[in-house]
This record gives sequence, C-alpha cells and structure tokens, in this order.
Amino acid sequence: MQVKAIVAKEGRLFDAERPKPVPGPRDLLVRVHAVAVNPVDTIHLTPGFGGPSDQERILGWDAAGVVEAVGPEVTLFRPGDEVYYAGDITRPGAFSEFHVVDERLAGRKPRQLDFAEAAALPLTSLTAWEGLFERLALHPERNPAHPVLIIGAAGGVGSIAVQLARYAGLTVIGTASRPESSAWVRTMGAHHVIDHSRPFADQLRDIGYPQVPYVFALNVVDPHWENMMAALVPGGRLCTILPPRGPLDFRLMADKSITWSIEAMFTRPKHRTPDMDEHHRILTRLAEWVDAGKIRTTLRERLTPINAPHVQAAFEQLRSRRTIGKIVLEGF
Ligand SMILES: NC(=O)c1ccc[n+]([C@@H]2O[C@H](COP(=O)([O-])OP(=O)(O)OC[C@H]3O[C@@H](n4cnc5c(N)ncnc54)[C@H](OP(=O)(O)O)[C@@H]3O)[C@@H](O)[C@H]2O)c1
Repeated sequence: MQVKAIVAKEGRLFDAERPKPVPGPRDLLVRVHAVAVNPVDTIHLTPGFGGPSDQERILGWDAAGVVEAVGPEVTLFRPGDEVYYAGDITRPGAFSEFHVVDERLAGRKPRQLDFAEAAALPLTSLTAWEGLFERLALHPERNPAHPVLIIGAAGGVGSIAVQLARYAGLTVIGTASRPESSAWVRTMGAHHVIDHSRPFADQLRDIGYPQVPYVFALNVVDPHWENMMAALVPGGRLCTILPPRGPLDFRLMADKSITWSIEAMFTRPKHRTPDMDEHHRILTRLAEWVDAGKIRTTLRERLTPINAPHVQAAFEQLRSRRTIGKIVLEGF
C-alpha cells in the first residue's frame, strides 16, 4: 500500500507516495497527525549531508499521532493509543502519513493538547530536559532558587527550557534580542530577560545577579564564550547544545574550574544506549505535567495541510533564525 510522504532529495522537497512502512519487533506504526519542524531538518536537507547527495530522505523528527499497529515485542502501547515523540535521526522522519518509531522513544500524548500542540514538544523538551536535569545535574522539581541563565530563550528549545527550569524552582534569566521575543520569554515564565546581542555583565548586575552557577546555552557558542565565562561563578556549570565552530580560550574556563557538557538529544537513539527508554519516561512524565497545567505547549504557528510547499515555508522561517516558539504542520 502507498501512503503520502514529503520526500527530500538534492536539497529540494516534493510531494510523493511511498510504501507504507512496516513496524519492526519493538516498533509502533503511527498514523501521523502533526509534525513540528526543527533546525535539524534544514541541516539534513543539505545535499550530501549524511549520505550521497542523490539519496532520497524523509525528514521530520517531532511528531504526534495514533498507534495503528504494533510489532510483536511491543509492551508499552496498543493500537489506538495517542503518542508523541522525536524518534531516531538514523531512521526516516515523520513527514509521512504513516511512520514507524521504537516504542522506547515514544510517550503518551498529553490529553489536554491537540496533535499539533503535542507535536511542538518532544524534540525540544528532550533536549531541555537532558540538558537541565542530566548534564547540569539539576533536580526536575526541587532546587534552591539559584539563577540559571538560558541563552536563546525564545526559540524552540528555549521556550520549553524556560518552563522546565521555572517549574524546577530555579530563578530563570532568559536572553532574547527583540521586543517580541523578549515578551514571549516572559510569557514562558522567565523571571528576567536580558539581551544576548549586548554584553551580559552590566545587564546581569542590573537585575541583581552579577554571576550565576548555571548557564544553558541554546544557540551559537563562540560569540557568547567570553560573556558566559564572565557570567559563571567559580565552579559553575555550562551546558551547550551546539559544539563550538572555532577555537575557544579554554584558559577562561580553567581559571574558574568551569564544568562544560554538551547535550545532544539524539545520542540515546543513535547509539541504542541501554537506557534509551528514558525518552519514553521523560515524555510520559512531561505529558503528566502538561495535563496537570504545569507546562504548556510551545506551539506558535500552525500550517495545514502537511505538504512540500508548507514544509518549505516552515524551513524558510527557521533559516531566518528568528523563530519564536514552534512551527507545526498538521493533517495530510
Ligand atoms: N543538541 C541538540 O540535541 C539540539 C536539539 C535542538 C536544537 N539544537 C540546535 O540548537 C539551536 C537552537 O534550536 P531551536 O530549535 O531553539 O532554534 P530556533 O527555534 O530556530 O531558535 C530561534 C531563536 O534563536 C535566537 N537567536 C538567534 N541568534 C542568536 C544568538 N546569536 N544567540 C542567542 N540566541 C539567538 C532568536 O532569538 P532573538 O530573535 O530574540 O534573537 C530566536 O528566537 C539550533 O542550532 C539547533 O540546531 C540542538
């Protein structure tokens, strides 16, 4: 049986029909209702990225839908269950009417959200969760009100990182460079907003936090390096979600004994780690928090239906690097 799919090839996107995927032993076959876009999609659209340039790919690693069928070893879900997930970057993405995902990577969809609102969350939430609660070793719900500086707080990852940090009890200082992105960061729950296009020191002093024990950097590392090193207390912790592009002055880090970690959300699925079912647990717990009204969707814009022109339009917005919250496509 053929199903609708958005296919990427040689840097272009087109509408096509492809065979309905078949679930493996631990896979869910999901009827996809909504897919969010992420910068990783535009990177994988680049010709030759991750394979021969004429190789066809299906992008889209952030989805919500309904389980249609399950593989023989599946224990966590049944047909009819509503799920949301980011999935596995080494497998085809979800811009397809039907999609297969390992059950250990999927969570029960929050009941209070529609499919598009749910699809806005998984990839960025897993990134923010692992960054805050694993790399920075903060507690998911109970922390002293220590300040955390979240750089790039209006984007997809920032919008959920601000909420999770606030819910975890921290004092949240977000960064944004425009009035509309600053306003959004406050809406997401930041106590303070400073401007990442200006030096941090005076701005942090003005809000009463000249130095902070935690920095979570959700955008380019290099231009912020000296600001971040100056902002951290001795013994402070930095987590970035991108590697640096060029050489950095590590003496600044050594001078203060800073611990730096890099968070990459696809590590668990890509390397099939023994604890890859942590993604199932994180997304299930997040759904409970959403349903309890503690965390809200980061959806900001919907595009309907899911087709190549709409995916292309969403990618153009992402490339502007000025997206606020998440853009989600819904309905085939
Ligand atoms: N490692 C991982 O697992 C992982 C996961 C997700 C994303 N990422 C990467 O992390 C980055 C952010 O992802 P995203 O989904 O949040 O992107 P996004 O939604 O496209 O981020 C857009 C935001 O970035 C802010 N921004 C632009 N230039 C900035 C700068 N120089 N410094 C700080 N903020 C800046 C903008 O805020 P203003 O308009 O206010 O300037 C805008 O609101 C991307 O490079 C993505 O590839 C990595």
